[in-house]
Amino acid sequence: MQTVSTCEATANIAVVKYWGKRDEKLVLPTNSSLSFTMDEQLKTRTTVMFSEKFSHDEFWLNGAKADLKSGEFAERMVQLQLVREMAGIKTKAKAVSLNCFPTSAGFASSAAGFAALACAASKAAGLNLDARELSILARRGSGSACRSVLGGFVEWKKGDRADGNDSYAQQIASHTHWTELRNVIAVVEAGRKKISSRAGMKQTVATSGLFEARLKGLPQTVEAMKKAVLAKDFPRFAELAMRESSNMHAVMLDTWPPIAYLNDHSKEIMNSVMELNSGGAVAGYTFDAGPNAHIYTLEKDVSKVRRKLGEIPGVKEVIVCKVGAGPKFLMDEKEHLVDSDGNVREHSFSKGKGIVIS
Ligand code: PMV
Repeated sequence: MQTVSTCEATANIAVVKYWGKRDEKLVLPTNSSLSFTMDEQLKTRTTVMFSEKFSHDEFWLNGAKADLKSGEFAERMVQLQLVREMAGIKTKAKAVSLNCFPTSAGFASSAAGFAALACAASKAAGLNLDARELSILARRGSGSACRSVLGGFVEWKKGDRADGNDSYAQQIASHTHWTELRNVIAVVEAGRKKISSRAGMKQTVATSGLFEARLKGLPQTVEAMKKAVLAKDFPRFAELAMRESSNMHAVMLDTWPPIAYLNDHSKEIMNSVMELNSGGAVAGYTFDAGPNAHIYTLEKDVSKVRRKLGEIPGVKEVIVCKVGAGPKFLMDEKEHLVDSDGNVREHSFSKGKGIVIS
């Protein structure tokens, strides 16, 4: 048996954040979260091949073979085993993944990566999973990845069951619902984050006294945010997003030892957005587990936001993203990152050339 599938999935940026697990192994969250899936500027392409030729699983990331014995990687690659169990096969797999993010972007690509892996692996194994099943599978690689199996505006329902079968992503509105919405990404730091989100949120749950208060308020925030999005009420949406981002960063700082992902440039951006909004809502920021800003605004105001960011010397790069349509399968075998003999093809991504496969 030899089967192959290639999928591209894109990152998502949460406006109501996931920060805290109620089950570490199954990756079950303490709260529901909401995000927009981004467009193809922030995509990962992943090819998965199952073949009797392979004696063990292999995972390649950005042209280099990963060490599957190393802790976090091994845990996340549980996806391949889950797919085998669902398909009733024992065949080993080669998974090859390429992040097509602007090189200096410096944000986590795990959501796009694990969503693409769930889609490609399940299809290659002959499974035809629906969005709910795909998101449950992607969740095991990285919580936020469960939201990237869908396009548009997505809610990850926290669920209550111990087996996690009611903790999955659901689309609230498609990418065509609010076409004027943009995420202006202000890159201030390209390096890796000091503490991983996985380790950071575990520490918050264990030590933050404020965390309980955050959890109490979140169901209301989720409902208010859904309403604002469905009504395309930008001022309400922007305020909710900014307050929710600050709320998450407050519990991070309340963690012991404290976790501070924002830097001085991030704070300068927060002040600039508040200045921009002094005459009415133009923009709303949100920050993940890092200092780079995601500034939601409307198409008509992108140049205003860009101009303002131009006044901040710490901003190294600006990327303007639309809301994306979600994962897509690539049927043309020339697009696969593995050749028909099961060898990894030479492949690379650059901003100018895009994906080059030889
Ligand atoms: O799924 P992870 O482990 O990458 O955690 C993501 C956490 C945040 O990006 C900070 C919030 C979110 O909801 O995406």
